[in-house]
Amino acid sequence: MHLPSAGFILVCVFIALEVPYMLQTTYPVRTDGKVDKWFDEVARVFREIHEEGLDSGSAFAVYYKGNKVVDLWGGYENVETGKQWKQNTMSMTFSVTKAMVALCMAVAVDRGYADYNQRVAHYWPEFSQQGKGNITIKHVLNHEAGIPMTTERMTFDIAKDHSHLAHILETAKPMWPAGTSSGFHFLTYGWLVDQVIRRVDPMHRSLGQFFHQEIAQPFDIDFYIGVPVNLHQHVADLQSTNTFELFSLHPLLQSLWSRTWKSLRYEDMASQTIIKGGDITWTIYKMNGEEYRSLEIPAFNGIGSARSIAKLFNILVNGGQYEGKTLVSPKTLINLTTCGEETFDEIILDTAKWCNGMMSHPVLQEIPMNRLIGHSGFGGQGAYFDLDNDLSFAYTTTTLSPSGFGRDKRYVSLLRATYNSIEKLKSP
Ligand SMILES: *[C@@H]1O[C@H](CO)[C@@H](O)[C@H](O)[C@H]1NC(C)=O
Ligand SMILES: *[C@@H]1O[C@H](CO)[C@@H](O)[C@H](O)[C@H]1NC(C)=O
Repeated sequence: MHLPSAGFILVCVFIALEVPYMLQTTYPVRTDGKVDKWFDEVARVFREIHEEGLDSGSAFAVYYKGNKVVDLWGGYENVETGKQWKQNTMSMTFSVTKAMVALCMAVAVDRGYADYNQRVAHYWPEFSQQGKGNITIKHVLNHEAGIPMTTERMTFDIAKDHSHLAHILETAKPMWPAGTSSGFHFLTYGWLVDQVIRRVDPMHRSLGQFFHQEIAQPFDIDFYIGVPVNLHQHVADLQSTNTFELFSLHPLLQSLWSRTWKSLRYEDMASQTIIKGGDITWTIYKMNGEEYRSLEIPAFNGIGSARSIAKLFNILVNGGQYEGKTLVSPKTLINLTTCGEETFDEIILDTAKWCNGMMSHPVLQEIPMNRLIGHSGFGGQGAYFDLDNDLSFAYTTTTLSPSGFGRDKRYVSLLRATYNSIEKLKSP
């Protein structure tokens, strides 16, 4: 007997993985929602994206001069069962969640619970181990703390246990001295801020609870860091359209064709952060599970609606005030809208500007942007506000694309249509 060739095995694997997707029923294109008459170009572009099959589950919302002018959604919560995406559908926003974490810290700073320039160890003495005594809150928020990954591989059990997480972070040895370099702390960002919030909050809440009670509830925002089980039915499933896309999507596998020999062996920092992410980063199937949705992973698994994120950012555009309530005062708002120098990020291998936890939008030549602040997320998500134009917007999608950080094709065309509409409005 002879063994089958590698080629034969590959073909079998391909057929086994692809055929179910090829046989999958496709449902009709559907989009819904409303736009102000000046923004009809945005509705057209949103529809085209769905018609071209680039999206089959997404939402886009815009606030302009205090009014909701775009509120669009379309496609399906689940492309296999045909469950439709509805007005109140929520989806996972990946790193857009980091903007919510930054906002929680801004609220804590605003109330005098913490100070951006204070050392983390001031609130959390055990953190000073391994030479981490000089790391400030600001270093953590701006990805300069030198702890872009944990030494242990993450599991659900660890992620659920904040004392275990505290111990991991306390004993971590920084990869660079605080403030001397910057590298996207793509999971540890959230866990570090969570630990600080638990210590400085007079009620010692977790970051997810703090966000819910201090921001989401008072301002009527549909966004959760840890979704209550009774709301899981409103969460859209992330799609893995086909195996090839899924493979090319996974940042770890992407690194196969990116740059270096080191990354080929998964020894580069980006690959390592994903490997150490373990259960948290590995597979979309887990991300669609109940256990994952209920967990608080504050840098990564915030789940909400585009409308709510745009609304929240509109409150910031409006000076931090909403219906007589204060989200953050103008003095703290300055901290979220004053960004540092552009730095080279050692993990994402690109330049970035950080603004006490928020991110300044990467430059897009075609859009006249000066000060767009917010956050982008994996798969194409993006949510920003623009103080110069009195504008805020959010795009959320479950059809994940490999281009993140503000360069996703669908997101850019929606953004361009939004700015075109504003230009028309200014000079009709
Ligand atoms: C912390 O800062 C102080 C004062 O600037 C300095 O003397 C000390 O070496 C720093 N410690 C570490 C671990 O970097
Ligand atoms: C926050 O803003 C104030 C001005 O309101 C400024 O003095 C302070 O340096 C800022 N802090 C940080 C960490 O950006």
